[in-house]
Amino acid sequence: MKKVLVTGAAGYIGSVLVPKLLSKKYEVVAVDRFFFGANKLAQHNVLNVVKDDSRKLTIEHFKDVDAVIDLVAISNDPSAELFKQATMEINADSRIRTAALAKQAGVKQYILPSSASIYGFHDDLRDESCKTNPLTVYAKANEQAELGVLPLAAEDFTVTVMRQATVYGLSPRMRFDLAVNGMTYGCYASKMLPLMRDGSQYRPMLHVQDTTDLFCQLLETESSLINGEIFNVGSESHNFQIKDLAQEIVTIVAEFLSEKIEIEWYGDPDVRSYRLNFNKIESTLGWKAKRNLKEGVIEILEALKSGKLVKDDSSITLEWYQQLVTWHKRIKEIEKYNGILDIE
Ligand SMILES: NC(=O)c1ccc[n+]([C@@H]2O[C@H](COP(=O)([O-])OP(=O)(O)OC[C@H]3O[C@@H](n4cnc5c(N)ncnc54)[C@H](O)[C@@H]3O)[C@@H](O)[C@H]2O)c1
Repeated sequence: MKKVLVTGAAGYIGSVLVPKLLSKKYEVVAVDRFFFGANKLAQHNVLNVVKDDSRKLTIEHFKDVDAVIDLVAISNDPSAELFKQATMEINADSRIRTAALAKQAGVKQYILPSSASIYGFHDDLRDESCKTNPLTVYAKANEQAELGVLPLAAEDFTVTVMRQATVYGLSPRMRFDLAVNGMTYGCYASKMLPLMRDGSQYRPMLHVQDTTDLFCQLLETESSLINGEIFNVGSESHNFQIKDLAQEIVTIVAEFLSEKIEIEWYGDPDVRSYRLNFNKIESTLGWKAKRNLKEGVIEILEALKSGKLVKDDSSITLEWYQQLVTWHKRIKEIEKYNGILDIE
């Protein structure tokens, strides 16, 4: 049985990936700080949960591991802008260190789930050979990680970088700060779709089931096809201009609810806009995204309607990290009074 170590395992993508790996008979070591709760991964007899910081992993963690999928990150632009140092440490330095430790421990494969946001702003269709243009701390950290892990590729250590489009769809650790999920929730809850100005920006989208299927496929792929390679992950039909994406979601939700949905503009014009070419992943791996936007939106709507999915504070990544920091400071203050408050 192959053993896969997944970092950031209880996150939005990880909490879909881990059960899928287990169902495919992999043994899984799930590493996470569980910032979004410890209940995102169900217990399983071959799931080993490690509550640790990715920055503190040691070579012992990689004993008998066959592959690493290094999802860990401060996972969006606004959070990364707020926690710049932690983002560079976690998203870049710790992932480079994890890859190096894995190699040293004799692990055979390392996958870096990077982001298409590394392309920043471009008018034309970008493929993997194009120059990147990381505009934010989050994108810069991904670029650093890519530059750090790729040179570790060797005959006995397969390294692959996956530049994922913006992900959508249902997950145990739900993120409503992602475009499709947030728009769908806005339509459902307030009959208003929040749309970031000016709507002309392009953004590729990818269903969470598709990207996690791909991670599983990579674990069984011949090294010569993927070693030292970068892949854009998504599909050209999902290269949406944001205003068109919004219109499609409005139509799907209006039909589902039989209600009129309005568009509500917010924010300054987005500085990021990119459309990607996905020929390489299709021609090299025969991989194509299978899910469409309507399926992703409907599954969220149905989960909301049935009450299985409830929007809580932790589903907006930035706001949740801000709350955690505030509580941490309060606890430190209270600790100063330890003993004094214990008046009895
Ligand atoms: N979701 C997307 O649209 C998307 C798109 C492109 C790339 N990615 C990348 O995919 C990966 C996963 O994204 P996600 O959406 O699942 O994010 P997420 O925020 O839901 O998950 C990240 C997980 O990492 C954990 N974590 C954070 N810092 C940690 C640390 N120092 N030590 C241990 N655990 C820590 C968190 O508790 C969380 O469970 C990230 O690298 C992200 O940059 C995501």
